[in-house]
Amino acid sequence: MEKNPLNIGIVGLGTVGIGVVDFLTTNKDLITLRAGREIRISGICAKRKNKKRELNLSRFRWISDPLTLSNEQGIDVVVELIGGQNDPAKSIIEKSLLNKKHVVTANKALIAHHGHYLAILAEEQKVSLNFEAAVAGGIPIVKILKESLSGNDISRVYGVINGTCNYILTQMENHEQDYSKIFRDAQNLGFVEKDPSLDVGGIDSAHKISIIAALAFGSRINFDNVKIKGIESISLIDITSASAMGYRIKLLGLANKSTAGISQVVEPCLVPKESLFGKLDGGTNMVMVEGNFVEKTHYIGLGAGAGPTASSIVSDLIDIARGNISSSFGQRASELEISQHVSEDLSSSFYLRFLLTDKPGTLAKLAGILGKYGISINHMRQLRHQGENAPVLIVTHPTAKISLTSAIKEISKIEICKSDPVYIRIEDL
Ligand SMILES: NC(=O)c1ccc[n+]([C@@H]2O[C@H](COP(=O)([O-])OP(=O)(O)OC[C@H]3O[C@@H](n4cnc5c(N)ncnc54)[C@H](OP(=O)(O)O)[C@@H]3O)[C@@H](O)[C@H]2O)c1
Repeated sequence: MEKNPLNIGIVGLGTVGIGVVDFLTTNKDLITLRAGREIRISGICAKRKNKKRELNLSRFRWISDPLTLSNEQGIDVVVELIGGQNDPAKSIIEKSLLNKKHVVTANKALIAHHGHYLAILAEEQKVSLNFEAAVAGGIPIVKILKESLSGNDISRVYGVINGTCNYILTQMENHEQDYSKIFRDAQNLGFVEKDPSLDVGGIDSAHKISIIAALAFGSRINFDNVKIKGIESISLIDITSASAMGYRIKLLGLANKSTAGISQVVEPCLVPKESLFGKLDGGTNMVMVEGNFVEKTHYIGLGAGAGPTASSIVSDLIDIARGNISSSFGQRASELEISQHVSEDLSSSFYLRFLLTDKPGTLAKLAGILGKYGISINHMRQLRHQGENAPVLIVTHPTAKISLTSAIKEISKIEICKSDPVYIRIEDL
């Protein structure tokens, strides 16, 4: 057993920070045995010293300025748990790495935007920058991609990686209530980020899929190329109609690699109810990784919360305590290249919903425009009238997304169309 402890400083004592202190305290002996040395909290820091917290922290040394931790000689690892893609989190990490301190973070926004630059910095300084907790909470997907599946040529990864959206969609279906009501309830329960667009707008999922794609495909992280669509336009009609057809709606993050390049998408999709993803309820996350030799593999677990997230942070700390200094993205950061990014054009079926004027010839006009773009209808249903108008649901045969979006654009401009059309891809996972 190594006599010297690994001295860590924790910056940020919110949900995750307190979870980490609790985890390291509760499982102290087990962690010491497995890490081969003690992992000792040598300093803690948050914004407000006098804030009432769930744990008594008086036995730990309080440091008021987070940058002090980054400079302090006795600290081996800085654990950044403040959040946010820019300062202070960014300068704390930057400074820590420049001072040859390892860094562990759960900050997906920061990794998605600055991960490449920070990984290079870590590599130059010969220290670790670990971020297992940044993707899918307690699911060890970073390690799976960096280690367990590292010899596979990975062609596809997708997942439900935002628990809040999955919770909202599941609650809408279970309670037959509209998006706005369930969204408000989720906000009141504290499930939604302060900036809701991060969750329901799909940005959080986009941060995560960009990190997963970089790890899976060995490419340089490229958040700006993720095509993002959130769940705000999903209404109860879509959920119940999908259900009647044997589907559920899930917000998926999808990344594909082909000879043309890499595509990264976040969008709501219809998935078969009986598929693994269709059965995923509440805040649970699931990720599928497909490699050329291993084929499809699935990973499921809690995607957020103090315990699962702390579990990933502590595993990153144990790695450092053991002396495993690995590249942040599974291969030398300085050798990671920007891949050609392409828009996904895999052909698939789509669910469409229109609100149309209820006049003779309306449906023929709609079918005419779809036909003009080579889109054929698998089945069509008209729902009960809403005043002068009637919702019309269509499921198409497989079609290219580019044709579909062009047709939708044209349909949305004609006078028979009374609200923005809704289109949702059907993924037969
Ligand atoms: N919550 C989850 O389930 C979860 C899951 C996966 C990843 N993450 C990621 O983990 C990170 C932390 O999330 P969280 O939910 O724990 O956030 P949180 O509850 O909002 O806590 C943030 C902490 O940062 C501290 N802080 C804010 N500004 C600071 C400053 N200038 N200097 C020092 N400390 C400062 C706050 O201090 P005060 O307490 O004094 O206000 C608070 O303790 C984020 O990157 C998040 O995306 C969270």
